[in-house]
Amino acid sequence: MTRRISLTQYLIEQQRQHGHIPQELRLLIEIVARACKRIAISVNKGALGDVLGTAGSENVQGEVQKKLDIIANEVLIEANEWGGHLAAMASEEMDGIYVVPNRYPQGEYLLLFDPLDGSSNIDVNVSIGTIFSVLRKVTNHRGVGEEDFLQPGKQQVAAGYCVYGPQTTLVLTLGDGVAMFTLDREQGSFVLTSDEVKIPEDTKEFAINMSNQRHWDAPMQRYIDECLAGKEGPREKDFNMRWIASMVADVHRILTRGGVFMYPWDKREPNKAGKLRLMYEANPMAFLVEQAGGAATNARQRILDLPPSKLHERVSVVLGSKNEVERITAYHLEAD
Ligand code: AHG
Ligand code: MN
Ligand code: MN
Ligand code: MN
Repeated sequence: MTRRISLTQYLIEQQRQHGHIPQELRLLIEIVARACKRIAISVNKGALGDVLGTAGSENVQGEVQKKLDIIANEVLIEANEWGGHLAAMASEEMDGIYVVPNRYPQGEYLLLFDPLDGSSNIDVNVSIGTIFSVLRKVTNHRGVGEEDFLQPGKQQVAAGYCVYGPQTTLVLTLGDGVAMFTLDREQGSFVLTSDEVKIPEDTKEFAINMSNQRHWDAPMQRYIDECLAGKEGPREKDFNMRWIASMVADVHRILTRGGVFMYPWDKREPNKAGKLRLMYEANPMAFLVEQAGGAATNARQRILDLPPSKLHERVSVVLGSKNEVERITAYHLEAD
């Protein structure tokens, strides 16, 4: 059974025993977790807290912002800007980077986040979440710019998400496996409830938005057709399908019991990008999934190797149980 220790104790042990996390990074994770607790409180209030519905504005990706997209973004910025551990932040909901104001000390870390993932599920009381990714500023020039963020995902020093569902669960990797913490509301702290999370290599469950099927590329059509053919088809087993439409919740299911998640590029998008964003959706999830023994590609290459060219870059995503991800990737490479 997993030892029921708090997130604070877990992080201190990581710092002391394993020596791979500096104190500054520990502080950063604690503050992100504190922000997630505040977001969880707003999410739980729902209609009573006047947090549902749209805010009447658009983000840089042309999506209508929900009130909670903006609230969560503000909570994360306010919580993180004063601690002295960050140089700058970037978010789905901000066009450019947010440099830590001069009145606070500047640290060496860069924080990226999707403050509220699964916006279409906010108003219908279905699980939503926050996704985050931590990089180190590797250049030693003074100041910080967008170019400091454009590092491949393999350079992340930490990543995670918090899912606001029937329970509020924080899932974290510091590059040495994946741990899950459940929010104990009475105590107000995250408690370790699952250590050494592992994704089974094989699965009979896939997650994809089937309504886009007619727009997919041939290799993706082939993979899904084979799954749907069930026992009588080439895969010789029946598959189940799940699609929550909150990446956090779909990935959480995969980290809990296996499966494969896909949001492929489709023919409506001319420049071969997918829907999901590389730097604050695909990279942190790919890091978590690999640390749990799974795999993550853009249907051709490992996501964590991709060099980003801009902050809000979009990418195809295939992640989860290793053997399925390898199969889908092979189908695409064979067809090239
Ligand atoms: P966000 O709410 O942060 O913009 O992300 C939405 C994403 C992701 O959570 C989910 O996997 C996907 O959009 C769902 O897309 P569909 O509505 O096309 O199914
Ligand atoms: Mn959005
Ligand atoms: Mn998202
Ligand atoms: Mn979002």
